[in-house]
Parts: sequence; structure tokens; C-alpha cells
Amino acid sequence: MERLTFPESFAWGASTAAYQIEVFKISAIYGGLCVRCVCTKTYNKALPVFLWPGGWDADGKGLNVWDTFTHQGGDRVYKNQTGDVACGSYTLWEEDLKCIKQLGLTHYRFSLSWSRLLPDGTTGFINQKGVDYYNKLIDSLLAMNVTPLVTLYHFDMPQAIEDQGGWNSEKTVEFFEQYAKFCYSTFGDRVKMWITINEPHIVAQLSYEQGLFAPGKSEPGYGAYRSAHNMIKGHAKAWHAYNTHFKEKQKGYVSIALDSDWAEPLDPSSSDDKEACKRYLHFRLHWFANPIFIDGDYPSGMKIKISEKSIEEGLTTSRLPEFTDEEKTMIKGTADFFCLNYYTTRNVKRLSNQSGPSFKSDLEAEGVKDPEWPISGIEWLAVVPWGLRRLLAYIKEQFGDPDIYITENGFAQSDPPLLQDTHRWGYFQETLAEVWKAIRQDGVKVKGYFAWSLLDNFEWTSGYGARFGLFHVDFNQPNLPRTPYFSAFEYAKVVKGNELIYK
Ligand code: GAL
Repeated sequence: MERLTFPESFAWGASTAAYQIEVFKISAIYGGLCVRCVCTKTYNKALPVFLWPGGWDADGKGLNVWDTFTHQGGDRVYKNQTGDVACGSYTLWEEDLKCIKQLGLTHYRFSLSWSRLLPDGTTGFINQKGVDYYNKLIDSLLAMNVTPLVTLYHFDMPQAIEDQGGWNSEKTVEFFEQYAKFCYSTFGDRVKMWITINEPHIVAQLSYEQGLFAPGKSEPGYGAYRSAHNMIKGHAKAWHAYNTHFKEKQKGYVSIALDSDWAEPLDPSSSDDKEACKRYLHFRLHWFANPIFIDGDYPSGMKIKISEKSIEEGLTTSRLPEFTDEEKTMIKGTADFFCLNYYTTRNVKRLSNQSGPSFKSDLEAEGVKDPEWPISGIEWLAVVPWGLRRLLAYIKEQFGDPDIYITENGFAQSDPPLLQDTHRWGYFQETLAEVWKAIRQDGVKVKGYFAWSLLDNFEWTSGYGARFGLFHVDFNQPNLPRTPYFSAFEYAKVVKGNELIYK
């Protein structure tokens, strides 16, 4: 039995995101028919309308891309499920606070719904009820001595902004900066830790390159690079807005949450696989971390590779956009700490001969799972705790030894989940032990750990079929009761003692 003690003032948290937990606008659904938007969707289960009385536009939230995407159906989401009800946290937020209290968390990470605050995405019209909602939540967290870590944008772009191009358009950089300023001025007297964008890599890849996530735009070879380019600029502008206008008075910190797998060469003796492995990390982590943490620009290997491919395709310029010198200066150094979302690891091999322009053909690498690694309740999530330790040491070494917060890490159960999830707690334990080793043995400055997620929630295209919560949510009951899993009880012990008792 080992006692693995964490540093004093280590942040123990759990994370959620607005679209995955709140509610779209339940008052818009009467008699099983959606009357809010133009979709003709009918709902096949009795919805708890009595919990949310009001007109179809009650509480004024504007549509976002996930509302539209899920309402369009088309089997892009498991069983065509939506976030219309989700965990009902817009109404049941006090139930969430009880869960946070039961865990004894020091921090809670959640995201603001941009279109709840600014229904058309611009500051032209402010939805006061949205402001009131987040004020209640923030004030209550602080009253419980829980520090809020607030994400401005977690995949749910206002539809009105998307209609003008979304992240494909440079105009969104400006809209995002205005939105960020609005949030700092509205909540920044109390919120001191901000994340601008959650996982730009996922947005670029799944939303604008492959079209698998809302808004479902598929433009291989272009979409990922263009949207990422605008997200990096949007992030940097939002950081500067804080630094210039708010930092002195509010004394907070701003960062961006980057997701990355750890990567190992499939055949460690193959130079092709070793190079492919390097590219894999460059096209994932360095794509964003180099501009923000190092020099304001994309990694040179990435620039060369995409430029060569573009020339082969007969283009005169690279499909990867370029930053101007002025932009590089503006982007460099725009994060006050490093936020890492880690879920899994891949063995990487070289992959050539992909036809047509695409991110994948530029990457010339493929990540595969080792058959020995256990798979959690969602197929892509192979459980590889040691991968996190290696990734943390790598970030320390590559990006100037920053303070690191692990802003997401977790394991899904498939549906129906087990309340007695001892197996899953085993994964958490192994992972926390690796975090401890990173801190104590490798000297990585890990300042906090946030489990994904506080609650079972709407897991994007997997709908309610993947259960990531520390608390079970019964989506079949109108009051959506929350019940702790075994993992919640065990996590609470770790938080309380600031140590993991590990066998
Ligand atoms: C992340 C995302 C979260 C959550 C998690 C589990 O990519 O930020 O919203 O869905 O994955 O898959």
C-alpha cells in the first residue's frame, strides 16, 4: 500500500460543457413536437415539460450549431439523440452543486453557452436571463469555496455566427474577441481562470474537415487548417483583450485547452515509424502549442509537408495558411498556463498513398491501438495511463516547463452503466498514480486534475450511449436524478486527503 501525496493547493476538479449538460429550450417542445426551430422533429418520449414552463422562446437562448445539427437527424448522432434535455442543468444546477459538494472539489470547470448569453453571437443583444443563470452558478460555487474554471467556447458556436462562416471566416475572430470581452466584464470580477477555446484540434478536424461534428462541414485538406488558423487568432485576441483591459484589475489568467494523445512508434526500430510518430504529435499538439507557447508560428515540419503536398497537387500556394509577422508577434506567448485534455495513446506507423488532398494524407501517419490495452466503454478510448506521464514530461520539455492543468481525463462506461464501477475506478487510480509520478519523479509542474465528467451527459455523436460521469444521470426520469458511482466516492476520498492510497 502506497500513499501518494499531491502538492499543497493541488486543484481537484471535474469538468462539464454547456451543450452536454444544460438544456436547449425545453419550453420549445410541446406534445412531442419541436416548435422552436424549423425542424419537424417529433420526440418519442414524454418530455418533462412541467419542469420548464414558458413560451417557445422562454429564457431567450439562441440556436447554436449543435441544436441545428442534432435537430436535422440523419443518424449522425447515436439514435438521433439531442442535447435538448441533457442533464437539465439549466434548471437543476443546484443538483449539480450538491454533486460538487459531495466530491469536495476545489475547482469546477464548466463552459458558458455563447448563444445563451448572446443569442445571435454578437453583443448587439444580451440575454439577461443567461447572465443571471451564470451569475447564480458562479456565486454559489464561490460561496462553497469552489474555484470556477470557465471555458468560453466548447464546440457550441452560435448558429447566427456559423451562418456567416463560423471558424472558416476571419470575421469570427472579431466576434469571439467581443464575446470574450463581454464575459470578462460580466463575470471577471469573480472568475479568475479562463479557457478561451476547448480543443481546437477536434473542432478543426471533426467540424470543418470531416464534417462529423456540428456544423457538419466537410472540406478535406482545407477546412481543418483554415478553421484552426482563425481559432488561433481568436484565442490570441481574447488573451490580449484580457491582458490589456482586465488583467490589472481582475488579476486572472487565460489559457486554451489543447487535446493530445501520446504517441509511440509502432515499430521502434523503424525510422519511418519514428518520423511518423513525430509528425503525429506535430499535427496534433504542436499545431496549436507552437504558435501559442513558442514562436507564433506553425511547426516547420508541418509547414514543409503541407507545402510539398500542395505543390504536388499543382497548387501555387500551400493549403496551410500563413501568419503575417505581425500576427506571429500577436500570437506568441498568449497562454498563462497549459491546459491539457488527455484520453488515450496510439502506436503510430507511416501511412502513405492516401489519395486526394486531406489532413490525413498530409499527415502520412496512422495511429493504432495496441491490442493489449483495455478499451473503456467507447471504442476509441484505449486506457493507457502511462501515456499521460510521458506526455506531461514531453510538454515540460517542449514548451518551457509551464504550469499544467489536466483539464480533462476520464473513462466512459457503455450504456447501461454499472453504479459499482470498480473497474473504472481502477483506471482512474492508475492514471492518478502516473500524474503523481510526473510531479514527484519527473518534476512536471502539474497544478491540477479535472475528471471528465461531473455527470453522465450528451457525449456528442455518441449521444447518451457513453457514460463519462462521476455521477449517474437517469435520463428516463423526468427529474433526471443524479446518483454517485463508486468512482465518485473514491474520488472524494482522494480529494479530501489530497492523496491517493494505492495498492
Ligand atoms: C473531449 C471533449 C468533451 C468530452 C470528452 C469525452 O474531446 O472536450 O466535451 O466529450 O472529449 O469524449
